[in-house]
Amino acid sequence: MYTEKVMDHFTNPRNVGEIKDADGIGEVGNMKCGDIMRIYLKVSDDDVIEDIKFRTFGCAAAIATSSAITEMVKGKTIAEAWEISNQQVAEELGGLPPNKMHCSNLAADALKKALRDLEAKRAAKKE
Ligand code: FES
Repeated sequence: MYTEKVMDHFTNPRNVGEIKDADGIGEVGNMKCGDIMRIYLKVSDDDVIEDIKFRTFGCAAAIATSSAITEMVKGKTIAEAWEISNQQVAEELGGLPPNKMHCSNLAADALKKALRDLEAKRAAKKE
C-alpha cells in the first residue's frame, strides 16, 4: 500500500522536533481523522530557510509527508518554499494511495501557514 520511501520516512522521520525561537509556526488539523501537524521555520536575513522541524500526531502518511516536506524545504528560499504543492510532496514519496492524498495536503498547508506566520511577524517588526 505504501511505497518504500513512505515507509522510510515513517520509520525514520527527519527533522522531528520544535524550534524554540522559530520565525514562523504553522499548525493544521484534519477534522475527519483528527490528525494534527505543526511546522517550525528558522529563516536567515536573506530569506533562506535554514532550519525546519515538525511535530505530527497522525497516520503514517501524515508523518512521512511532514518528514519529506522538511527535506524539500531546507536550504530553499521563502519564495521557493511557497511553490511546493501537495502533489510534489506525494511525488517525492513515490506516490500515495488515493485515500491518503489528504495527508499530503496537511503538510503543504502547514508549511504555507508557517510561511504566512513568518511574513506576518516580519511585517509586525517593521511597524
Ligand atoms: Fe489523517 Fe492521514 S489519515 S492525515
